[in-house]
Amino acid sequence: MPGPYNSEIKNMLNEKLKSNIEKLRADNLYRTLRVMESAPGARVMFEGKKYVNFASNNYLGLACDERLKGAAKKAVDEWGTGATASRLLGGTFGLHSKIEKVLGDFKRFEACAVFPSGYQANLGAMSALMGPEDTVILDRYCHASLVDGARLSKSKLRVFKHNNPTDLEKILKRHPKSWVVTESLFSMDGDVAPLKEYVEIAKQYQARLYVDEAHATGVFGPKGSGLINEWGLESKIDVCMGTLSKALGGQGGYIGGSRELIEWIHNSSRSFIYSTGLNPGSLASALAAVVVCMTEPTRRERLLFLSERLRMGLGLQSKIKNQKSKIFNSPIIPFVVGSEEKALHLAKVLWEAGIYAPAIRPPTVPKGTSRIRFSVTSDHTEQDIDRVIEILNKWR
Ligand SMILES: Cc1ncc(COP(=O)(O)O)c(C=O)c1O
Repeated sequence: MPGPYNSEIKNMLNEKLKSNIEKLRADNLYRTLRVMESAPGARVMFEGKKYVNFASNNYLGLACDERLKGAAKKAVDEWGTGATASRLLGGTFGLHSKIEKVLGDFKRFEACAVFPSGYQANLGAMSALMGPEDTVILDRYCHASLVDGARLSKSKLRVFKHNNPTDLEKILKRHPKSWVVTESLFSMDGDVAPLKEYVEIAKQYQARLYVDEAHATGVFGPKGSGLINEWGLESKIDVCMGTLSKALGGQGGYIGGSRELIEWIHNSSRSFIYSTGLNPGSLASALAAVVVCMTEPTRRERLLFLSERLRMGLGLQSKIKNQKSKIFNSPIIPFVVGSEEKALHLAKVLWEAGIYAPAIRPPTVPKGTSRIRFSVTSDHTEQDIDRVIEILNKWR
């Protein structure tokens, strides 16, 4: 029976949390969950009202595709709703092996391991592959899951300037044989890492390369397989990470690498071993999504056409230019406004105009770079894009 001592502790905790929350509110950093009342397509409903959705990573519009939904329903009928156990203890179905083979072929890696989410894939792979004896050098703008994976590995951490091979080399000179970690298409900036330069530098300093393709998959590369394949670098990258939850419209994450690397993950990656395997519905929808992604290039073409239209309309072309990578367009379009207050204000202006594009604030992005992150999908219309351009140009 909990005595007064326990309730006193509970009250103290609640008071502390309340004060933390008040501070977040005062700093314009408070976050709330907005409940969507429809499927997450280009048009969504909130509180009975329709909005154009620029907040999803559903780049190819596959999350509501009938073929993916049909595949998931069929798999649930056949295999049930959950994997029911860890992959190593009865939680591996034929569907797991199949998607791992398909993704390995798609991304051109020898082998592949599927995780319940992309976050778990990064956490599990990095902590299994890197240890206290290693140095991990991350791009300054790497996603939280990469930062957390590096921290969990207990490696020595270093950070290099965003998309800057010169700074990376400077650090590698002092720490050769390190792990270099980057995203290929950056989630909040929409720019592309100079992977070719990194490959050359890594070779020179005997470094290993870990590349997160969460956002590039489905968007770039032959048949949408990502930027590593676009530049034919698969044999030069040690680890490729991706998700099933963005352009592929479902849920889950994966790691691609050598056979030995995946065997090691099966045996030592804690988020792989100590979590229930990905569910049958997600596996089947991912299998269908890879087929659509490979066979319907028009989705990708339309996505990049609309993205270019928005980028040009906002005059952002030169800002995201990455000369070395020679890719100047992507569906992630950041409209940086600076302060949290300004970003919240702009999000409200857009909301009132029927556009859902929430403010992105620290710690997701560095202080002073709060923004609206427009995420274009192939299901948007030209009118959707032009409406955003009109509102933003007026707001400026
Ligand atoms: C760059 C990057 N890596 C990994 C993840 C995690 O993927 P998931 O959403 O499948 O957990 C995300 C998701 O936001 C991401 O943006």
